[in-house]
Amino acid sequence: MTMTHERGSDIFASRTTGVLSELESSGQLKHLQMIDGPMGPSIELRGRGTVDCFCSNNYLGLANHPEVVQAGLDGLKQYGAGTASVRFICGTFEPHERLERTIAGFLGVEAAYTFVSCWTASEAIFPTLCEPGDIIISDELNHACIIDGMRLATVIKKGLHKAVYRHSDMDHLREVLQQAHANPDMTGVPWVVTDGVFSMEGDLGKLDELRAVCDEYGAMLVVDDSHGTGVMGDTGRGTHEYFGLVGDQIDFFTGTLGKALGGGAGGYIAGSKAGIEMIVQRGRPTLFSNALPTTVACSANRAIELLRDDPGMVQKLRDNVAYARKGIGEIGFEVIQSPTAICPIIVGDTAKAIAMSNELLDMGVFVIGFGYPVVPEGTARLRVQISAAHEQAHLDRLIKALAELKAKHG
Ligand SMILES: Cc1ncc(COP(=O)(O)O)c(C=O)c1O
Repeated sequence: MTMTHERGSDIFASRTTGVLSELESSGQLKHLQMIDGPMGPSIELRGRGTVDCFCSNNYLGLANHPEVVQAGLDGLKQYGAGTASVRFICGTFEPHERLERTIAGFLGVEAAYTFVSCWTASEAIFPTLCEPGDIIISDELNHACIIDGMRLATVIKKGLHKAVYRHSDMDHLREVLQQAHANPDMTGVPWVVTDGVFSMEGDLGKLDELRAVCDEYGAMLVVDDSHGTGVMGDTGRGTHEYFGLVGDQIDFFTGTLGKALGGGAGGYIAGSKAGIEMIVQRGRPTLFSNALPTTVACSANRAIELLRDDPGMVQKLRDNVAYARKGIGEIGFEVIQSPTAICPIIVGDTAKAIAMSNELLDMGVFVIGFGYPVVPEGTARLRVQISAAHEQAHLDRLIKALAELKAKHG
């Protein structure tokens, strides 16, 4: 007797429709906004016109800086549109070498290696540098790319362990490290990994305390400073600078070129020469995925040079952050306090966050509402992001719109 099976495409269609209609009916369906024009403090949104932008990661306003754009154009003319190869075959160009030198110098470490995104960098670092017998210990609020990088690493390397410590809780981290030391299956390297700036809370990883705990237990410290580089510290070196640490006190950085550092795309791992050489030799994204486009490498390099030569832009960002945080606080909204450029206003319910974001947009202010699954259920928020490119008038319009929202919703 022949058995008949429901066709895979029917099963797929029915479950996909189910999820999408559930999202639609609960007000959680995301609608992509179309931007006609460059990223900046104000942007052109299709169907909306000009709105003030408070949800990009363009922290220093370099995404459309004329010199950053020009560097990309020059790169395009000199090196063409594509690398057409992974790096180790024939895809490494002079702009890669130059950019990696610039990144390493800026962070104060020996070497760096670039990828098409920080996500890819996270998928390279843990599966490549960690080995069976090691344990990777992650802050519970770390970015999704760290979580997935760790998951991938433990699938690829049987006998590599992972654990999570409560958010910024040093006592809990010590406990986990003690347990690891006592475990005969974990005689290798303990790795502690944290965001420098937590992307959804906007608070800081306590890098000074983390360094001390890591030293106590012989652990390596990895910091994803995607939201801290270009933002934190007097000269924008990042969260380590804010805590008075120098670059080589962090064993490895991961970071992005898609936020403060030019805003294009791309990511990197930075740290010791030996570690970076391992990434070159053994990293699967290194060996099997195309290089960062040279145009992007040229733009990012110029962006970092501009920041290096003018730390004043970091001060402007800090002033803007202080002004905005004060204004939002005075309205009576509860903002998670920190010195970073991410100001999350917790509203609880995902549908409410999306509705409030739409109301702000009606007032010409673009702030995204984040809900589940980006943040845990019940902690949906409006995430306001401040840029050095904002002038006081932008910030005043933000505060006025939020005040109207507060008056309406209480
Ligand atoms: C902390 C953190 N790490 C990594 C990433 C990913 O960076 P990329 O866009 O370069 O993959 C993000 C982006 O949102 C982030 O917030």
